[in-house]
Amino acid sequence: MVTAPQSIPDIHVPKHPLWPILSAQEKDALKQRIKALLEENNAVLVAHYYVDADLQELAEETGGCVADSLEMARYGTTANADTLIVCGVRFMGETAKILNPEKRVLMPDLGATCSLDEGCPAKEFSAFCDAHPDHTVVVYANTSAEVKARSDWTVTSGIALPIVRYLSEKGEKVLWAPDKHLGAYIQKQVGVDMLMWPGSCVVHEEFKAFALERLHKLHPDAAVLVHPESPESVIEQADVVGSTTALIKAVQELPNETFIIATDDGIFWKMQQLAPDKKLLSAPTAGEGATCVSCAHCPWMAMNALQNLEQLLHKGNNEIHIDEQIRQKAVVPIQRMLDFAATHGIGGTAPK
Ligand code: 13P
Ligand code: SF4
Repeated sequence: MVTAPQSIPDIHVPKHPLWPILSAQEKDALKQRIKALLEENNAVLVAHYYVDADLQELAEETGGCVADSLEMARYGTTANADTLIVCGVRFMGETAKILNPEKRVLMPDLGATCSLDEGCPAKEFSAFCDAHPDHTVVVYANTSAEVKARSDWTVTSGIALPIVRYLSEKGEKVLWAPDKHLGAYIQKQVGVDMLMWPGSCVVHEEFKAFALERLHKLHPDAAVLVHPESPESVIEQADVVGSTTALIKAVQELPNETFIIATDDGIFWKMQQLAPDKKLLSAPTAGEGATCVSCAHCPWMAMNALQNLEQLLHKGNNEIHIDEQIRQKAVVPIQRMLDFAATHGIGGTAPK
């Protein structure tokens, strides 16, 4: 029998790119040029909360969307544009293409992957599934089109829990991939055992429980908000565990004045925009003796910038292509998730 591998492939984690610093005038001029190019190309920006604040702002100013991965997937299907420009990571662009084969889907950098995606190669994953044919295969959206094509359900962090609960209430046994921390969290919440792939997010895995406890003691009235890709010892300290959208809503809705946030710090722009009076602190990623306190920023999300967006709009390169046979298989579990979301009223609109 093939069990899940004890370790995942070595993942090359890139250094954060150093984008040239622009003066206010240069940035403004660049944004104006991009706006004109978006119109010329009948293109719309679909951005994640973790990308550079300038890109999030530009997406909003030009009628695009800034959202979590569930809403990004849904938005592309309703957008009235020939071209979707996905500012995020590769799986988000692939999901957009799988759902919208007639649209051109471009990304500022096709090398923007994700440690979860890279840590779950389709061939090994397929063998794992083949060895457990009595299990329903549920994969996190942070995977390749090939892995999605091998799944029964695709889920994002905003909908994983209700879907696994629904499946377990129907008596189905679940094989989960690839994020072991999100999987462990769901397992505990639903009270079922799942067969699990041992992947993880290199960004969320860095949050340190001990340092978080110490920071919380300094700010006892702060609410702790945690994305479920974080380790269990960090999740245990959370007042709210949820998707990026759920964490933003918590900042808006909870009465606390201060928040300690364990997720990528790109999210702070939207949180501060919607709740300007709240004080936001980044959960610590550094252990004893480290020189940085928190460096929670995804190196792949950081590959998206105004500069390469402009180049992309000039060249029209970096297009996502997906083999049609794979696409036709992968669209089934994604559509199942979107239908479940619509029937159960999950997600819908980005926080305003
Ligand atoms: P969300 O679906 O919560 O936006 O998360 C995507 C992601 O990649 C988190 O690291
Ligand atoms: Fe992947 Fe983690 Fe980056 Fe999200 S933050 S895209 S899970 S590596």
